[in-house]
Amino acid sequence: MSLQAAINPLWLVHKSVYSPEAFVAERKDVLRKVWLFVAHESEFPEAGSFVAREIAGDPVLISRGADGRIRAFYNTCRHRGAIVASQEQGTARAFLCPYHNWSYNLDGSLRALPGAEAYEVIGFRKEDFGLAPVRLENFCGLLFVCLDPDAPSIEAFFGEELTGLMRRTLGAARYEVYRKDVFDVKANWKMLSENWRDGYHVPNVHPKLAKGMPPQRYKLTDNGHCIQYITYGRGFVADDVWEATQKHALPGLEPLTGFHFHLFPGLVIQPLNNQLQILSQRPVDARSTIWERRALGVVGDTPEVRETRVKCWTAWSSNQVAEDIVVLELQQRGIMSEGMPFSIMARGEEVTEGIRGDDNRMRQFWNRWRAMMGVARNEWRPHGT
Ligand code: FES
Repeated sequence: MSLQAAINPLWLVHKSVYSPEAFVAERKDVLRKVWLFVAHESEFPEAGSFVAREIAGDPVLISRGADGRIRAFYNTCRHRGAIVASQEQGTARAFLCPYHNWSYNLDGSLRALPGAEAYEVIGFRKEDFGLAPVRLENFCGLLFVCLDPDAPSIEAFFGEELTGLMRRTLGAARYEVYRKDVFDVKANWKMLSENWRDGYHVPNVHPKLAKGMPPQRYKLTDNGHCIQYITYGRGFVADDVWEATQKHALPGLEPLTGFHFHLFPGLVIQPLNNQLQILSQRPVDARSTIWERRALGVVGDTPEVRETRVKCWTAWSSNQVAEDIVVLELQQRGIMSEGMPFSIMARGEEVTEGIRGDDNRMRQFWNRWRAMMGVARNEWRPHGT
């Protein structure tokens, strides 16, 4: 019997899922149907703060209005479709389309248009031509958008258990981003999702981290999400770092504990002892992904407390992304080869609670992907073939 025949076929992932054709299909059937993290509320410090992003193929504009509320819109002029905010981020008093100068208020409503009298003959009403709204939710300061008007609420998407645990931890304080890094990763977005759920690579790729955080318990929850429980050990860190590690646990966390919340399809939120990190991704095409990393402190931290958080983030968390990018880009270079028909995710029996190192969290990702894509196997064949 061949190796392939001996393995549960649902534990094999055919390379076709990483193809450009699969990317087009999953943008429609996965990425446009779920709640996707876009930014943290602290990145919108004042009225007019805005961020413009491409989300699942559509341009989206997120801005804080004069009333303090953060809203999302399609970043598409209602006149003839030009992008209204062309900068990735900034502060504006209003949004002016550069093509014919229609302008929009911070709440998305149409403010003015040159030569408006020419439209009077058709009964044109400005209130009917604001920027088209996109669903946005602020969950404990994290901003999520969803392009599907009929998708379930964000709480239903997270599920009851994860919603409750995230509210008890992330919701116990107000946070602010003190550092943001952006990485251009030459790898398919699903490889990043797999990577965070793959405990097998940790001793090889993150040997220092593996010493301080040996394999620990995980739990699969609803809708493809999962929780990795963390307890800190002494590990590799220097004496002064270990001393700092034992101080200023985040509100809602027991000292020297933490969580990785893995949210389908590709978000990782890490409240870790005395520091918070958010790792999010923006798929660009089948072979490249923008990976964003945010480190956060608590609003009102004293300089000493913030310094402790930064020191611990630097010692415990700052190397992981660079270490992972090396192997992810090597994987991308090899995975479409003729010599590589499928990925193997066959470690450990099938359980919903286990110890980091088996493949259940990756298999859970693929279970959810198949359900959303409407396919029976982890492979992608264009319809009709
Ligand atoms: Fe924006 Fe014409 S396309 S004003």
